[in-house]
Parts: sequence; structure tokens; C-alpha cells
Amino acid sequence: MKKRQLGPCVTFFPQPTTLVGTLDKDDQVNLMTASWAGIVSKTPPTIAISLNKGRKSYQNILARGEFVVNMVPAQLAVEADYCGIRSGYQEDKSAVCGFNFQSSDQVTVPLLVESPLNLECRLVQEVELGDYRLLLGEILQVHAADAAFAKEGSIDTRCFDPLVYLGGIREYWNLGNKQADAYKDGKQLIAAKQK
Ligand SMILES: Cc1cc2nc3c(=O)[nH]c(=O)nc-3n(C[C@H](O)[C@H](O)[C@H](O)COP(=O)(O)O)c2cc1C
Repeated sequence: MKKRQLGPCVTFFPQPTTLVGTLDKDDQVNLMTASWAGIVSKTPPTIAISLNKGRKSYQNILARGEFVVNMVPAQLAVEADYCGIRSGYQEDKSAVCGFNFQSSDQVTVPLLVESPLNLECRLVQEVELGDYRLLLGEILQVHAADAAFAKEGSIDTRCFDPLVYLGGIREYWNLGNKQADAYKDGKQLIAAKQK
């Protein structure tokens, strides 16, 4: 495969599209779009998000030690983009989007009702990376859309329909079709090697 060198940059995909929820000093909820987010440990369950130190969300997390990571479904692409180009310092983004919230189990930051997957997090570590701060959040509770579990013994992934972000290209996509089963279909190659 012929390649083109892009130099040191942040072009990489796919990235998730998340809305990070925080509370400010007046208990006002703020949502910020973050695609630099990912699970980094199973024991303890941990997610890492990387925030520019100028974000209102970063200041909120520092002050409260808590945040919620809301997965963005494809139908909320426009709202997610808006929450990534405006700051909570300027306006109440949740009101503009018409979002609804419900109480969390373990943290004071509420969950975004319109998101089918919410992670309640407690800040456990911060790493300085130039203008950015890598924040490690221990996942205290996960809320997943009940509709996905309607059929006994299987999860209907279409209920989540995650919005994928292509960093560098600056485009949002939804998922295509399932290609394989994880931790299972790779075994075909183990079997093939043994023949
Ligand atoms: C698709 C997308 C992804 C983004 N991901 C991040 C990110 O991971 N970290 C970050 O600091 N800013 C990210 N941003 C920018 C922030 O969302 C933006 O600066 C926002 O206005 C910050 O809001 P706040 O000041 O209310 O916290 C992203 C923006 C977009 C559109």
C-alpha cells in the first residue's frame, strides 16, 4: 500500500464522539464535545479524556472532581458539533440543544437523557500534556439504554448507533455493518495455523 506522510499531527480514526457533562460552581450543567476519549483500564474501569486547559469543562472537573461521559448517537450530530464550537462560558448549550437531564447514581453531575450510554466518572489522575490535560476517570456506574436488552440473551447494538468522528478530516459518520465477532473470529487464523 502506497502511503503519504502527513508529519506529526493528530489525524487518526475512528474516534468516538462524546459529550462530557460537568457542573459549574452555580450547579449549571455544561456539555462539551470530546473525541479524545477512550477506555484505558478494565480493573479498575477507567476512561481517559484529554481537555485543553482553557475549556470551561476542565475548570468544572478540577473544582468538582466528577464528570459524566455521554456517548453521542448519530441523530445528535448537529447538537454535538454545536457543543464543540461554543463554550459554556458564552452560553447555556444544553438549553440551546433542548437537552434533558436525569440524576446520576454516584456523582452530582446529571446524565444526558438523549444519550443511550452514560458513564459516571470520578477524577483520579491528571497528566499535563502541553496545553492539554489528560484526565483519568474511574467509572463508577454505566447506564445503557434498556431497549437494547429487549431480546433475551443478545444486545441490539442499533439502539446505540454511535456517532464516529474522523479526526483530521473533520467529518462525522455513523457505523457501517458488523464485520466480525470480537475475541472469537480471530480464532479462525489460530485453527488455520494448526492445520
Ligand atoms: C468533534 C469535536 C471534538 C472535540 N474534541 C475535543 C477534545 O477531545 N478535547 C478538547 O479539549 N476539545 C475538544 N473539542 C473542542 C471543545 O469541544 C470546544 O472547545 C468547546 O467549546 C469547549 O467547551 P467548554 O468551554 O464549554 O468546556 C472538540 C470539538 C469538536 C467539534
